[in-house]
Amino acid sequence: METMLDQLAHLETEALAALPTLADESALESFRVAYLGKKGKLTALSAGMRDVAPADKAAVGARLNEVRSAITDGLSSRKDALESARDAAAVAGIDVTLPGRPSLGTGTLHPLTQIRDLAIRTLRGMGFALAEGPEIETEWHCFDALNTPADHPARNESDTFYLHDGRLLRTHTSTVQIRTMEAASELPIRIIAPGAAYRRDEIDATHLSVFNQLEGLCVDRDVSLADLKGTLVLFFREIFGSKTAVRFRPHFFPFTEPSFEIDIQLEAKGREAKWIEIAGCGMVDPAVFTAVSSTRKDDLLDPAAVSGFAFGLGLDRLAMILHGITDIRHLIENDLRFLRQF
Ligand code: PHE
Repeated sequence: METMLDQLAHLETEALAALPTLADESALESFRVAYLGKKGKLTALSAGMRDVAPADKAAVGARLNEVRSAITDGLSSRKDALESARDAAAVAGIDVTLPGRPSLGTGTLHPLTQIRDLAIRTLRGMGFALAEGPEIETEWHCFDALNTPADHPARNESDTFYLHDGRLLRTHTSTVQIRTMEAASELPIRIIAPGAAYRRDEIDATHLSVFNQLEGLCVDRDVSLADLKGTLVLFFREIFGSKTAVRFRPHFFPFTEPSFEIDIQLEAKGREAKWIEIAGCGMVDPAVFTAVSSTRKDDLLDPAAVSGFAFGLGLDRLAMILHGITDIRHLIENDLRFLRQF
């Protein structure tokens, strides 16, 4: 009978000779199982240790470990060799030293999106939450509830897009003031609503029939004109720079009293500083609270108990002033030569 050492020698020779013929992962795995697995040949041989004479045990044991490492190492180098061969085949015929082709350029956000995000971020920081409402509106939400009389010129068919069913495309985002107050469950109400507004304007460098507004509304028990001024001065200085001058010029809106237009004067850098009209605002007219209260079952918005301020501004205009854009139509043409500048 072969001695244990002979058997080990045979097994080693056989295994090491078989290794180079293994051609893929599954062959490697079968080999591993055949030699090193629970029922593998080497495992079976090690069971023979039991019968080795005590004096020989140390030498045979050492040899057993040697053969096991030889097979294990052989297996892993064969695996490495197969992997590199596969990688080499994959890149064969590819010149990895060729310079890469330029990929599609990275896009940027549209200047309007940028200014809208900046405005939202700034006002959110002051405690305003985002609100929204539909672009197709009722006359009630767009005019009546906003204290705009039936004969007001803004209600003319020549100014407003009416649908056949009597609804209309909202002419301003002030509709969201009404929607928000109808649904409010507690005070304070502090919202901003960016969104589209529609007017039947002649299209030119400063007018489109759809443009982007940002509405703001703050209602609570003791909201004052000082709150309005503080909020908006801070807002415009955040957007246009801390040296921006802001003035409130008396104006009229049906839904605010008193009402103002806001002008800003950008920091003069050599050129003559002009006052630029930038927004409308005012203290919510009590008639608006009365109108909204008529749709509510409680007295949360009792005109005798609450006050508020509102403002509305054109985001397109904000972007134009900020970037010195002279024609509003650039904002919707998607000409890359224009867009790449932002
Ligand atoms: N809705 C007004 C407009 O479109 C702007 C405005 C909003 C004025 C809120 C006062 C208060 O011109």
